[in-house]
Amino acid sequence: MAKKYSLDKDRIKVVLLEGIHKSAADLFISNGYNNIESFPGALDDDLLKEKISTANIVGIRSRTQITKEILDEAGKLLAIGCFSIGTNQVDGHAARQMGIPVFNAPFSNTRSVAELVIAEAILLMRNIPIKNAAAHRGKWLKSAANCFEIRGKNLGIVGYGHIGSQVSILAEALGMNVYYFDIAKKLSLGKAVACSSLDELLKVSNIVTLHVPETPLTRNMIGEKQISLMRWGSCLVNASRGSVVNIQALTSALESGRLLGAAVDVFPDEPASNNDPFVSDLQKYDNVILSPHVGGSTVEAQQNIGTEVAEKLVNYSDTGSTIGATNFVQLSLQPNNNAQRFMHIHKNEPGILRQVNYVFTSRGINIAGEYLQTDSEIGYVIVDTESCLGSEIIDELKAIRGTIRVRMLY
Ligand code: NAI
Repeated sequence: MAKKYSLDKDRIKVVLLEGIHKSAADLFISNGYNNIESFPGALDDDLLKEKISTANIVGIRSRTQITKEILDEAGKLLAIGCFSIGTNQVDGHAARQMGIPVFNAPFSNTRSVAELVIAEAILLMRNIPIKNAAAHRGKWLKSAANCFEIRGKNLGIVGYGHIGSQVSILAEALGMNVYYFDIAKKLSLGKAVACSSLDELLKVSNIVTLHVPETPLTRNMIGEKQISLMRWGSCLVNASRGSVVNIQALTSALESGRLLGAAVDVFPDEPASNNDPFVSDLQKYDNVILSPHVGGSTVEAQQNIGTEVAEKLVNYSDTGSTIGATNFVQLSLQPNNNAQRFMHIHKNEPGILRQVNYVFTSRGINIAGEYLQTDSEIGYVIVDTESCLGSEIIDELKAIRGTIRVRMLY
Protein backbone atom coordinates (compact mmCIF):
# COMPACT_ATOMS: atom_id res chain seq x y z
CA MET A 1 0.00 0.00 0.00
CA ALA A 2 1.28 3.48 -0.86
CA LYS A 3 2.32 5.36 2.24
CA LYS A 4 0.26 8.42 3.16
CA TYR A 5 2.60 11.23 4.10
CA SER A 6 1.38 13.76 6.64
CA LEU A 7 2.52 16.63 4.46
CA ASP A 8 1.45 16.06 0.87
CA LYS A 9 4.72 15.77 -1.08
CA ASP A 10 3.48 18.34 -3.57
CA ARG A 11 3.45 20.82 -0.72
CA ILE A 12 7.08 20.17 0.16
CA LYS A 13 8.82 22.99 -1.61
CA VAL A 14 12.24 22.20 -3.05
CA VAL A 15 14.39 25.15 -4.17
CA LEU A 16 17.45 24.26 -6.25
CA LEU A 17 20.03 26.98 -6.96
CA GLU A 18 23.18 27.40 -9.06
CA GLY A 19 22.20 25.18 -11.97
CA ILE A 20 22.30 21.91 -10.03
CA HIS A 21 22.40 18.97 -12.46
CA LYS A 22 19.01 17.86 -13.76
CA SER A 23 19.57 14.41 -12.19
CA ALA A 24 18.60 15.98 -8.82
CA ALA A 25 15.22 17.29 -9.99
CA ASP A 26 14.57 14.00 -11.78
CA LEU A 27 15.18 12.08 -8.57
CA PHE A 28 12.88 14.36 -6.55
CA ILE A 29 10.13 13.99 -9.18
CA SER A 30 10.44 10.23 -9.37
CA ASN A 31 9.92 10.15 -5.60
CA GLY A 32 6.79 12.29 -5.77
CA TYR A 33 8.34 15.70 -5.04
CA ASN A 34 6.98 17.86 -7.85
CA ASN A 35 7.05 21.26 -6.20
CA ILE A 36 10.50 22.27 -7.43
CA GLU A 37 11.78 25.74 -8.23
CA SER A 38 15.16 25.81 -9.99
CA PHE A 39 17.50 28.74 -10.62
CA PRO A 40 20.48 28.68 -12.99
CA GLY A 41 22.72 30.78 -10.72
CA ALA A 42 23.21 31.91 -7.14
CA LEU A 43 20.71 34.45 -5.74
CA ASP A 44 21.53 37.78 -4.12
CA ASP A 45 20.91 37.83 -0.36
CA ASP A 46 17.48 39.48 -0.55
CA LEU A 47 16.11 37.00 -3.08
CA LEU A 48 17.78 34.11 -1.24
CA LYS A 49 16.04 35.16 1.99
CA GLU A 50 12.72 35.39 0.15
CA LYS A 51 13.09 31.96 -1.45
CA ILE A 52 14.40 30.24 1.65
CA SER A 53 11.56 31.60 3.77
CA THR A 54 9.07 29.32 1.98
CA ALA A 55 11.39 26.42 1.14
CA ASN A 56 11.28 23.06 2.93
CA ILE A 57 14.38 21.79 1.17
CA VAL A 58 17.09 23.93 -0.39
CA GLY A 59 19.88 22.74 -2.69
CA ILE A 60 22.99 24.81 -3.33
CA ARG A 61 26.45 24.42 -4.82
CA SER A 62 29.51 26.30 -3.61
CA ARG A 63 28.62 29.92 -4.40
CA THR A 64 25.61 30.33 -2.09
CA GLN A 65 26.53 31.23 1.47
CA ILE A 66 23.91 30.05 3.96
CA THR A 67 24.84 32.08 7.01
CA LYS A 68 23.07 32.37 10.35
CA GLU A 69 21.44 35.54 9.02
CA ILE A 70 19.99 33.65 6.05
CA LEU A 71 18.93 30.75 8.27
CA ASP A 72 17.03 33.16 10.50
CA GLU A 73 14.63 33.61 7.56
CA ALA A 74 14.28 29.86 6.97
CA GLY A 75 11.35 29.06 9.25
CA LYS A 76 10.11 26.09 7.23
CA LEU A 77 13.42 24.60 6.20
CA LEU A 78 13.80 20.86 6.90
CA ALA A 79 17.15 20.16 5.26
CA ILE A 80 19.95 21.66 3.17
CA GLY A 81 21.65 19.84 0.30
CA CYS A 82 25.15 20.97 -0.68
CA PHE A 83 25.56 19.61 -4.21
CA SER A 84 29.31 19.73 -3.73
CA ILE A 85 32.08 17.92 -1.89
CA GLY A 86 32.55 20.48 0.90
CA THR A 87 29.96 22.15 3.12
CA ASN A 88 31.92 25.22 4.28
CA GLN A 89 29.40 27.45 2.53
CA VAL A 90 26.80 26.63 5.19
CA ASP A 91 26.89 27.60 8.86
CA GLY A 92 26.44 23.97 9.87
CA HIS A 93 26.46 24.71 13.59
CA ALA A 94 23.65 27.26 13.32
CA ALA A 95 21.73 24.84 11.09
CA ARG A 96 22.13 22.02 13.62
CA GLN A 97 20.84 24.21 16.43
CA MET A 98 17.75 24.82 14.28
CA GLY A 99 17.33 21.07 13.68
CA ILE A 100 18.38 21.31 10.02
CA PRO A 101 20.72 18.58 8.73
CA VAL A 102 23.14 19.42 5.92
CA PHE A 103 23.92 16.76 3.30
CA ASN A 104 26.68 16.65 0.67
CA ALA A 105 28.29 14.32 -1.86
CA PRO A 106 31.75 13.49 -0.59
CA PHE A 107 32.59 10.68 -3.05
CA SER A 108 30.73 11.43 -6.26
CA ASN A 109 33.84 12.64 -8.07
CA THR A 110 36.29 10.11 -6.67
CA ARG A 111 36.53 8.16 -9.91
CA SER A 112 37.01 11.31 -11.98
CA VAL A 113 40.07 12.29 -9.94
CA ALA A 114 41.49 8.78 -10.09
CA GLU A 115 41.18 8.61 -13.88
CA LEU A 116 42.93 11.96 -14.35
CA VAL A 117 45.80 10.88 -12.11
CA ILE A 118 46.37 7.72 -14.13
CA ALA A 119 46.24 9.67 -17.40
CA GLU A 120 48.78 12.16 -16.05
CA ALA A 121 51.07 9.40 -14.81
CA ILE A 122 51.18 7.96 -18.34
CA LEU A 123 51.75 11.34 -19.98
CA LEU A 124 54.53 12.26 -17.55
CA MET A 125 56.34 8.95 -17.92
CA ARG A 126 56.22 9.37 -21.72
CA ASN A 127 57.56 12.94 -21.46
CA ILE A 128 54.53 14.10 -23.45
CA PRO A 129 54.12 17.51 -21.75
CA ILE A 130 57.50 18.68 -23.13
CA LYS A 131 56.87 17.17 -26.58
CA ASN A 132 53.38 18.68 -26.66
CA ALA A 133 54.61 22.17 -25.76
CA ALA A 134 57.41 21.89 -28.35
CA ALA A 135 55.01 20.73 -31.07
CA HIS A 136 52.79 23.75 -30.41
CA ARG A 137 55.86 25.90 -31.11
CA GLY A 138 56.71 24.02 -34.32
CA LYS A 139 59.39 21.73 -32.84
CA TRP A 140 59.51 17.99 -33.58
CA LEU A 141 60.95 16.13 -30.56
CA LYS A 142 60.77 12.57 -31.86
CA SER A 143 62.87 10.51 -29.45
CA ALA A 144 62.41 7.60 -27.05
CA ALA A 145 64.83 9.06 -24.50
CA ASN A 146 63.22 9.48 -21.06
CA CYS A 147 60.01 7.83 -22.27
CA PHE A 148 58.80 4.83 -20.30
CA GLU A 149 55.83 2.51 -20.07
CA ILE A 150 54.08 2.60 -16.72
CA ARG A 151 53.68 -1.18 -16.71
CA GLY A 152 55.99 -2.64 -14.08
CA LYS A 153 56.71 0.79 -12.55
CA ASN A 154 56.18 1.64 -8.88
CA LEU A 155 53.34 4.00 -8.03
CA GLY A 156 53.44 5.54 -4.55
CA ILE A 157 50.04 6.68 -3.25
CA VAL A 158 50.07 9.02 -0.27
CA GLY A 159 46.65 8.85 1.42
CA TYR A 160 44.85 5.57 0.72
CA GLY A 161 41.30 6.87 1.15
CA HIS A 162 38.53 6.99 -1.42
CA ILE A 163 40.58 8.47 -4.24
CA GLY A 164 43.88 6.83 -3.34
CA SER A 165 42.33 3.36 -3.29
CA GLN A 166 40.58 3.94 -6.66
CA VAL A 167 43.93 5.00 -8.15
CA SER A 168 45.38 1.80 -6.69
CA ILE A 169 42.84 -0.39 -8.51
CA LEU A 170 43.29 1.37 -11.86
CA ALA A 171 47.08 1.33 -11.58
CA GLU A 172 47.24 -2.39 -10.85
CA ALA A 173 44.98 -3.07 -13.82
CA LEU A 174 47.66 -1.35 -15.94
CA GLY A 175 50.38 -3.56 -14.49
CA MET A 176 51.87 -1.10 -12.00
CA ASN A 177 53.26 -2.07 -8.59
CA VAL A 178 51.34 -0.08 -6.00
CA TYR A 179 52.80 1.17 -2.73
CA TYR A 180 50.88 3.37 -0.36
CA PHE A 181 51.30 5.28 2.87
CA ASP A 182 48.43 6.32 5.12
CA ILE A 183 48.40 7.46 8.74
CA ALA A 184 45.41 5.19 9.33
CA LYS A 185 45.55 1.41 9.06
CA LYS A 186 44.00 0.46 5.69
CA LEU A 187 43.03 -2.73 3.94
CA SER A 188 45.37 -3.18 0.95
CA LEU A 189 43.50 -3.73 -2.31
CA GLY A 190 44.89 -6.31 -4.71
CA LYS A 191 48.63 -6.61 -4.30
CA ALA A 192 49.17 -3.05 -3.01
CA VAL A 193 51.91 -2.83 -0.38
CA ALA A 194 51.59 -0.60 2.69
CA CYS A 195 54.73 1.44 3.49
CA SER A 196 55.51 2.07 7.13
CA SER A 197 56.62 5.66 6.47
CA LEU A 198 56.34 8.40 3.88
CA ASP A 199 60.12 8.29 3.43
CA GLU A 200 59.96 4.61 2.53
CA LEU A 201 57.29 5.30 -0.09
CA LEU A 202 59.22 8.22 -1.60
CA LYS A 203 62.37 6.12 -1.98
CA VAL A 204 60.68 3.26 -3.78
CA SER A 205 58.32 5.09 -6.19
CA ASN A 206 58.73 6.07 -9.85
CA ILE A 207 55.58 8.18 -9.54
CA VAL A 208 54.24 9.69 -6.34
CA THR A 209 50.60 10.80 -6.21
CA LEU A 210 49.08 12.68 -3.29
CA HIS A 211 45.56 12.06 -1.97
CA VAL A 212 45.55 13.43 1.55
CA PRO A 213 43.21 16.07 3.02
CA GLU A 214 44.40 19.51 4.08
CA THR A 215 45.40 19.24 7.72
CA PRO A 216 48.20 20.73 9.87
CA LEU A 217 50.09 17.42 9.29
CA THR A 218 49.79 17.54 5.50
CA ARG A 219 50.74 21.22 5.09
CA ASN A 220 54.03 21.24 3.13
CA MET A 221 54.11 17.47 3.52
CA ILE A 222 56.18 17.33 0.33
CA GLY A 223 59.06 19.78 0.83
CA GLU A 224 62.76 19.91 0.03
CA LYS A 225 63.69 16.98 2.32
CA GLN A 226 60.95 14.71 0.99
CA ILE A 227 61.72 15.48 -2.67
CA SER A 228 65.38 14.78 -2.00
CA LEU A 229 64.36 11.21 -1.10
CA MET A 230 62.53 10.69 -4.41
CA ARG A 231 64.27 8.78 -7.18
CA TRP A 232 66.12 10.64 -9.91
CA GLY A 233 63.77 10.86 -12.90
CA SER A 234 60.60 10.22 -10.91
CA CYS A 235 57.35 12.21 -11.22
CA LEU A 236 55.00 13.90 -8.77
CA VAL A 237 51.23 14.29 -9.12
CA ASN A 238 49.23 16.54 -6.81
CA ALA A 239 45.45 16.59 -7.19
CA SER A 240 44.78 16.83 -3.45
CA ARG A 241 45.20 20.30 -1.94
CA GLY A 242 47.57 23.12 -2.90
CA SER A 243 49.08 23.40 0.57
CA VAL A 244 50.41 19.83 0.53
CA VAL A 245 53.38 20.58 -1.77
CA ASN A 246 55.97 23.27 -1.22
CA ILE A 247 56.11 24.88 -4.68
CA GLN A 248 59.65 26.21 -4.25
CA ALA A 249 60.93 22.73 -3.40
CA LEU A 250 59.14 21.41 -6.47
CA THR A 251 60.62 24.03 -8.82
CA SER A 252 64.14 23.31 -7.46
CA ALA A 253 63.66 19.61 -8.17
CA LEU A 254 62.48 20.37 -11.71
CA GLU A 255 65.52 22.60 -12.25
CA SER A 256 67.94 19.97 -10.94
CA GLY A 257 66.33 17.21 -13.00
CA ARG A 258 65.57 15.03 -9.98
CA LEU A 259 61.97 15.14 -11.14
CA LEU A 260 61.22 14.22 -14.74
CA GLY A 261 57.94 16.09 -14.48
CA ALA A 262 54.93 16.91 -12.38
CA ALA A 263 51.18 17.27 -12.73
CA VAL A 264 49.54 19.84 -10.51
CA ASP A 265 45.78 20.41 -10.30
CA VAL A 266 45.63 22.31 -7.01
CA PHE A 267 47.58 25.37 -5.91
CA PRO A 268 48.29 27.37 -2.75
CA ASP A 269 46.63 30.39 -4.44
CA GLU A 270 43.83 29.62 -6.85
CA PRO A 271 41.88 32.25 -8.79
CA ALA A 272 38.44 32.89 -7.32
CA SER A 273 36.79 32.65 -10.74
CA ASN A 274 37.53 32.03 -14.42
CA ASN A 275 37.76 35.81 -14.85
CA ASP A 276 40.69 36.14 -12.45
CA PRO A 277 44.28 35.59 -13.60
CA PHE A 278 46.20 32.45 -12.70
CA VAL A 279 49.80 32.95 -11.63
CA SER A 280 52.20 30.20 -10.56
CA ASP A 281 55.97 29.71 -10.52
CA LEU A 282 55.30 26.41 -12.27
CA GLN A 283 54.10 28.09 -15.47
CA LYS A 284 57.57 28.30 -16.94
CA TYR A 285 58.16 24.51 -16.90
CA ASP A 286 57.01 22.62 -19.99
CA ASN A 287 57.36 19.33 -18.12
CA VAL A 288 54.62 20.31 -15.66
CA ILE A 289 50.98 19.61 -16.49
CA LEU A 290 48.91 22.42 -15.01
CA SER A 291 45.16 22.05 -14.68
CA PRO A 292 42.68 24.42 -13.00
CA HIS A 293 41.47 22.25 -10.07
CA VAL A 294 39.40 20.06 -12.36
CA GLY A 295 40.34 16.65 -10.99
CA GLY A 296 36.76 16.01 -9.99
CA SER A 297 35.08 18.12 -12.67
CA THR A 298 33.29 15.82 -15.09
CA VAL A 299 29.74 15.57 -16.37
CA GLU A 300 29.47 12.16 -14.67
CA ALA A 301 30.58 13.58 -11.34
CA GLN A 302 28.02 16.41 -11.58
CA GLN A 303 25.33 13.89 -12.42
CA ASN A 304 26.38 11.63 -9.53
CA ILE A 305 26.42 14.58 -7.14
CA GLY A 306 22.85 15.45 -8.25
CA THR A 307 21.50 12.00 -7.48
CA GLU A 308 23.60 11.34 -4.37
CA VAL A 309 22.51 14.50 -2.55
CA ALA A 310 18.89 14.37 -3.77
CA GLU A 311 18.67 10.74 -2.56
CA LYS A 312 19.88 11.74 0.90
CA LEU A 313 17.37 14.61 1.04
CA VAL A 314 14.47 12.42 -0.09
CA ASN A 315 15.49 9.71 2.36
CA TYR A 316 15.56 12.22 5.20
CA SER A 317 12.23 13.72 4.23
CA ASP A 318 10.58 10.30 3.79
CA THR A 319 12.07 8.34 6.68
CA GLY A 320 14.01 10.72 8.96
CA SER A 321 17.29 8.97 8.13
CA THR A 322 20.22 11.35 8.65
CA ILE A 323 22.96 9.08 7.30
CA GLY A 324 25.46 11.24 5.45
CA ALA A 325 24.55 14.50 7.25
CA THR A 326 27.68 16.51 7.97
CA ASN A 327 26.41 18.53 10.93
CA PHE A 328 23.96 16.17 12.57
CA VAL A 329 23.70 12.95 14.53
CA GLN A 330 23.54 9.90 12.28
CA LEU A 331 20.41 7.77 12.41
CA SER A 332 19.84 5.08 9.80
CA LEU A 333 16.12 4.37 9.33
CA GLN A 334 13.99 2.21 7.13
CA PRO A 335 10.38 3.12 6.30
CA ASN A 336 8.02 1.76 8.93
CA ASN A 337 5.17 0.12 7.03
CA ASN A 338 2.33 -0.22 9.50
CA ALA A 339 2.55 2.81 11.69
CA GLN A 340 2.89 6.52 12.05
CA ARG A 341 6.31 8.09 12.50
CA PHE A 342 7.10 11.20 14.54
CA MET A 343 10.33 13.14 14.58
CA HIS A 344 11.35 15.16 17.64
CA ILE A 345 14.53 17.26 17.61
CA HIS A 346 15.42 18.86 20.90
CA LYS A 347 18.18 20.37 22.98
CA ASN A 348 20.15 17.64 24.70
CA GLU A 349 18.84 18.29 28.22
CA PRO A 350 17.82 15.77 30.86
CA GLY A 351 14.18 14.64 30.98
CA ILE A 352 13.06 15.53 27.45
CA LEU A 353 12.92 11.94 26.16
CA ARG A 354 10.79 10.97 29.17
CA GLN A 355 8.33 13.77 28.31
CA VAL A 356 8.23 12.74 24.65
CA ASN A 357 7.39 9.18 25.66
CA TYR A 358 4.77 10.41 28.11
CA VAL A 359 2.85 12.12 25.29
CA PHE A 360 2.30 8.65 23.79
CA THR A 361 2.13 6.37 26.83
CA SER A 362 -0.32 8.65 28.70
CA ARG A 363 -2.78 7.90 25.87
CA GLY A 364 -2.17 4.18 26.10
CA ILE A 365 -0.47 4.21 22.71
CA ASN A 366 2.01 1.45 22.03
CA ILE A 367 5.38 2.72 20.82
CA ALA A 368 6.29 0.25 18.08
CA GLY A 369 9.81 1.54 17.66
CA GLU A 370 11.96 4.30 19.05
CA TYR A 371 15.32 5.50 17.77
CA LEU A 372 17.50 8.02 19.53
CA GLN A 373 20.83 9.67 18.79
CA THR A 374 22.37 12.54 20.69
CA ASP A 375 25.42 14.74 20.49
CA SER A 376 26.54 17.31 23.05
CA GLU A 377 23.86 19.78 21.93
CA ILE A 378 21.07 17.95 20.14
CA GLY A 379 18.80 14.99 20.77
CA TYR A 380 17.12 13.37 17.77
CA VAL A 381 14.27 10.93 18.41
CA ILE A 382 12.10 9.02 15.99
CA VAL A 383 8.97 7.43 17.43
CA ASP A 384 6.97 4.82 15.46
CA THR A 385 3.47 4.10 16.70
CA GLU A 386 0.98 1.42 15.76
CA SER A 387 -2.09 3.68 16.13
CA CYS A 388 -3.11 6.55 13.89
CA LEU A 389 -3.01 9.69 15.94
CA GLY A 390 -4.36 13.17 15.34
CA SER A 391 -2.36 16.34 14.90
CA GLU A 392 -2.96 17.37 18.53
CA ILE A 393 0.01 15.12 19.37
CA ILE A 394 2.21 17.50 17.41
CA ASP A 395 1.09 20.46 19.55
CA GLU A 396 1.84 18.52 22.71
CA LEU A 397 5.27 17.48 21.48
CA LYS A 398 6.02 21.07 20.46
CA ALA A 399 5.06 22.31 23.92
CA ILE A 400 7.84 20.30 25.61
CA ARG A 401 10.52 22.71 26.84
CA GLY A 402 13.72 22.41 24.80
CA THR A 403 11.92 21.27 21.64
CA ILE A 404 13.55 22.52 18.44
CA ARG A 405 11.43 20.84 15.80
CA VAL A 406 8.61 18.30 15.54
CA ARG A 407 7.32 16.54 12.45
CA MET A 408 4.82 13.81 11.75
CA LEU A 409 6.37 12.06 8.76
CA TYR A 410 3.32 9.93 7.98
P1 NAI B 1 39.59 10.52 2.04
O1 NAI B 1 39.28 11.17 3.32
O2 NAI B 1 38.72 9.42 1.56
O3 NAI B 1 41.11 9.97 2.07
C1 NAI B 1 42.17 10.71 2.62
C2 NAI B 1 43.16 9.71 3.20
O4 NAI B 1 44.32 10.42 3.61
C3 NAI B 1 42.63 8.96 4.41
O5 NAI B 1 42.78 7.58 4.24
C4 NAI B 1 43.49 9.50 5.55
O6 NAI B 1 43.70 8.54 6.57
C5 NAI B 1 44.76 9.85 4.83
N1 NAI B 1 45.59 10.82 5.53
C6 NAI B 1 45.20 11.90 6.23
N2 NAI B 1 46.28 12.54 6.72
C7 NAI B 1 47.36 11.86 6.30
C8 NAI B 1 48.76 12.03 6.50
N3 NAI B 1 49.24 13.05 7.22
N4 NAI B 1 49.58 11.11 5.95
C9 NAI B 1 49.09 10.07 5.24
N5 NAI B 1 47.78 9.86 5.03
C10 NAI B 1 46.92 10.74 5.56
O7 NAI B 1 39.66 11.70 0.96
P2 NAI B 1 39.50 11.58 -0.62
O8 NAI B 1 38.06 11.68 -0.97
O9 NAI B 1 40.28 10.43 -1.10
O10 NAI B 1 40.18 12.96 -1.07
C11 NAI B 1 41.59 13.15 -0.95
C12 NAI B 1 41.98 14.56 -1.34
O11 NAI B 1 41.57 14.84 -2.67
C13 NAI B 1 41.38 15.67 -0.49
O12 NAI B 1 42.39 16.60 -0.18
C14 NAI B 1 40.38 16.36 -1.37
O13 NAI B 1 40.27 17.73 -1.07
C15 NAI B 1 41.04 16.17 -2.73
N6 NAI B 1 40.11 16.25 -3.85
C16 NAI B 1 40.51 16.95 -4.98
C17 NAI B 1 39.68 17.06 -6.07
C18 NAI B 1 40.14 17.81 -7.28
O14 NAI B 1 39.30 18.29 -8.05
N7 NAI B 1 41.42 17.90 -7.52
C19 NAI B 1 38.33 16.49 -6.08
C20 NAI B 1 38.03 15.70 -4.90
C21 NAI B 1 38.89 15.63 -3.82
